[in-house]
Amino acid sequence: MNKINIKIEGISYQVDENLTILEAAKACGYEIPSLCAFNHGECNQGSCRVCLVEVEGARGLVASCVYPVSEGMSIKISSAKAVTARRESVELLLSNHNKNCQQCDKNGQCELLHVANITGARDDAFAGVLTETHIDRLAPGLVRDTSKCILCGRCIARCENAQGIGILGYENRGFNTFVAPAEDRSFADSPCIQCGQCVNVCPTGALMEHSEIDKVDAAFKAGKHVIVQAAPAVRAALGEEFDYPIGTPVTGKMIAALRRLGFERVYDVNFGADLTIMEEGTELLGRLKNNGVLPMITSCSPGWVNYAEYNYGDLLPHLSSCKSPHQMQGAIIKSYWAEQHGINPEDIFVVSVMPCVAKKFEKEREQQKVNGIPDVDAVITTRELARMIRRAGIMFNRLPDEEWDQDIMGDYTGAAVIFGVTGGVMEAALRTVYHALTGKEKEEIVFTEVRGHEAGIREASIDIDGTVVNVAIASGMRSAKVLLDQIKEGTSKYHFIEIMGCPGGCINGGGQPYVRSCFLPNESDDIMDTYKEKRAKALYSEDERQVIRQSHNNPQIKELYDKFLGEPNSHKAHELLHTSYAAREGFNEL
Ligand code: SF4
Ligand code: SF4
Ligand code: SF4
Ligand code: FES
Repeated sequence: MNKINIKIEGISYQVDENLTILEAAKACGYEIPSLCAFNHGECNQGSCRVCLVEVEGARGLVASCVYPVSEGMSIKISSAKAVTARRESVELLLSNHNKNCQQCDKNGQCELLHVANITGARDDAFAGVLTETHIDRLAPGLVRDTSKCILCGRCIARCENAQGIGILGYENRGFNTFVAPAEDRSFADSPCIQCGQCVNVCPTGALMEHSEIDKVDAAFKAGKHVIVQAAPAVRAALGEEFDYPIGTPVTGKMIAALRRLGFERVYDVNFGADLTIMEEGTELLGRLKNNGVLPMITSCSPGWVNYAEYNYGDLLPHLSSCKSPHQMQGAIIKSYWAEQHGINPEDIFVVSVMPCVAKKFEKEREQQKVNGIPDVDAVITTRELARMIRRAGIMFNRLPDEEWDQDIMGDYTGAAVIFGVTGGVMEAALRTVYHALTGKEKEEIVFTEVRGHEAGIREASIDIDGTVVNVAIASGMRSAKVLLDQIKEGTSKYHFIEIMGCPGGCINGGGQPYVRSCFLPNESDDIMDTYKEKRAKALYSEDERQVIRQSHNNPQIKELYDKFLGEPNSHKAHELLHTSYAAREGFNEL
């Protein structure tokens, strides 16, 4: 990269030539406040004006997030004119903002408050009419509150870039502008897949997950047997909420925190992941042997399932009929576990801690219920768990490391742990399919061909003792669409495809801690590019530490089949662990 010479506050620096002033200043150690600019130009509409600086020779102040550096440029960030202009820009945003920060779940992680703080903005500098409050709470996954929206456009860009769906856009004009699905519909009445990627990028409380903490509180109050299960990706990111560096696994402390919150049992969803592999691997082998519908596509990501139902109704027979791991485990808790402990399933309340907001939708699906009883009663995200821990006064960083409860569902394998990473389900399945086809254990357990942490498509041909299995992996719907269109056109060469709704898989789910460089002064400048890889490493290292790394070797899984389910894909297994899908209209009648 060519370097150029610039000056900031009269001090000389050399910077890469292709940067904006905002990026160059950061590389030189200056934080210019910003709001609408996000993630290397993913959103760059230059509208909020909180990043204004003075540039010698330029007419007026310039928006540093869109203005490129050039040779010899001289920039003033702290001139009185620039400081005042930035403060006034924030004050204008505050003038019509519903500032009920005490009741706002974004408080503590709100970028509007952050820029107000560093610019010294006064909340009453300009008298403005408050933006009208429309609150959309109909979708189980997410909530939209127009009174908190600053029209930055990040959510619009994320839905379009990551998912290629384009649910959100600007409605109306001028002071009446707001951001919403087309015609101001609810997320529940639009083909939104409830992945929560837009929530992950929103700087304010305008888009949030649909919290279910109240439901959990009510279950405790009602004296239910409240059992919690936590997904693999949660442990790889929860520490970020308590100032641990990104990629620090906090499994033991998380278990300790869940116990102190009062849960009767604390289980790892990894047991359910091993069970999923047993069911899904058997289903795949059956389809391979019996000329079944191929390619078979994984079904554990509910955002992806929503996308398939809205957009590719004719491809639904390609989806595995397996429920996702937490749903399978919930079904076992309310059947076998309940039977073994002599508890009425209706007195059990299962809480799943998930990196995902689409799981909130999934657990409500009629097709997921067994005899009218839901497998899972509440889903809370990694962020909601952090809120519950803080609310209870638990000093997370001082907790001891504790172990999962062991009865019935305590064992898990390395294969289960890597479910949280794109390519992980595929690798876990291949470890078991190899054994099923050859009767042997694979010596080199790692399938490096399917590993990666970014969105996009990866593919491999795996030769298992002469049987070649062509596989592909995609995360994010923009990538998935390519593979789905191949199937539609009859040109797909694959036997097995893994699709995850969120780019990078569950480690980057819509319920994971927000990653914002302005709140992470100790992380490197490229953290927006590297956080997925760091979280993925936390899971791969846990896989390496496991003595048992193939799902079919999990002793408690074997016991579950021996004593209760019979064999994988048995009638009982189908009743409890499998589901069905139905094509849906994109826009329901209002
Ligand atoms: S979005 Fe931020 S500024 Fe607005 S109410 Fe919430 S915490 Fe306060
Ligand atoms: S939840 Fe996902 S699909 Fe829905 S609007 Fe947000 S990014 Fe788009
Ligand atoms: S909802 Fe959030 S991300 Fe979308 S425009 Fe409003 S403030 Fe920005
Ligand atoms: S961050 Fe530059 S105009 Fe919004």
